[in-house]
Amino acid sequence: MKKIILCFLIFGLFSANSLNPSLGMKEVFRDDFRIGTAVNLAQVTGREKGGDSLLSLHFNSLTPENGLKWALVQPQEGRFDFAFGDAFVQKGQEIQAFLVGHTLVWHQQTPKWVFEDLEGKPASAELLRSRMEQHIQEVVGRFQGKIHAWDVVNEAFEDNGTWRQTPWRRILGPDYIEMAFRKAHEVDPKAKLLYNDYNVWKPEKLEAILAMIRTLQSKGVKIHGVGMQGHYRLDTPSIDQIENAILKIHELGLEVHFTELDIDVLPRPTDQEGADLSLNFAQSPEWNPFPQGLPKDMEEKLVRRYVELFQLFRNHADKIERVTFWGLSDQTSWLNNWPVRGRTNYPLLFDRSKNLKPGFMDKF
Ligand code: XIL
Repeated sequence: MKKIILCFLIFGLFSANSLNPSLGMKEVFRDDFRIGTAVNLAQVTGREKGGDSLLSLHFNSLTPENGLKWALVQPQEGRFDFAFGDAFVQKGQEIQAFLVGHTLVWHQQTPKWVFEDLEGKPASAELLRSRMEQHIQEVVGRFQGKIHAWDVVNEAFEDNGTWRQTPWRRILGPDYIEMAFRKAHEVDPKAKLLYNDYNVWKPEKLEAILAMIRTLQSKGVKIHGVGMQGHYRLDTPSIDQIENAILKIHELGLEVHFTELDIDVLPRPTDQEGADLSLNFAQSPEWNPFPQGLPKDMEEKLVRRYVELFQLFRNHADKIERVTFWGLSDQTSWLNNWPVRGRTNYPLLFDRSKNLKPGFMDKF
């Protein structure tokens, strides 16, 4: 009897996260959703100091930050480079992670040649469609059965809910989305197919995305989930706005994936939210207020914001498949360079030395 009581005591001690610093985030949220991170080449090849142990302790999902984007994977027509992808899959298998491919059809980080004919004139619809299908064939085909989900189309809408006028949309019309999803499903019928975007919580944008999904569903096109990127700020969007989007996506029978979570703590020269890559401001001290470290009160605010978000996520764990951070630590976050170049930003839960910021894990 004494032994049994002792066992319970020890178990109780170790199941309290605050008392067990070696418990990873993936364990803490094991019954809720997967915990993912975006990774770069140094991280998937084990060259980043301290990267491997962080990946294996905390994460059970990985997304390539850049390595599978068109410009990297097919820089010239017909020349495919899978060096990153292969290393990514190997690392993912090592840590038994759910692997996400990012991204097949996007207007950014896609070479100009894709949208042009051999004379440099706009490509015909026929040519562009065949390039899109060829790309999906090669890339999804290469990792069929190994990469488990794809961000098939990225950022097709403006924040006001109108179609983004990308070369895809201009040349192929609105059906380009359907074409991409159909092709991806044909090449890997088991892969989960996602539509991914930022500011999904914005009412007009959300309505437009939901309408697009209904159209796809009515035509029998397979789409399994919506990726809410989750490039947030300290005080916007509100928890209610995010919750509303989770509920609406779920009502259509789709999974919610938080695909690129980070929280920008720095001021912005524009009041635009989200992650429009075309914003690009030069550095100046005014926009880089904390080069030596984030003030304590702001770090506490950041951690509180993460706690509120994860409480929300946990309340909707039945609807949410995965929460992926956009970067492993503050050191490598893209927000050090966007929307202003060369800043010192603090948007993640792991600081520049890869230590977990205090005050998060003990809340769960
Ligand atoms: C970003 C990467 O993090 C940067 O390294 C790169 O220079 C630009 O792209 N939305 C997306 C991501 O879907 O692919 C973007 O990633 C961030 C915004």
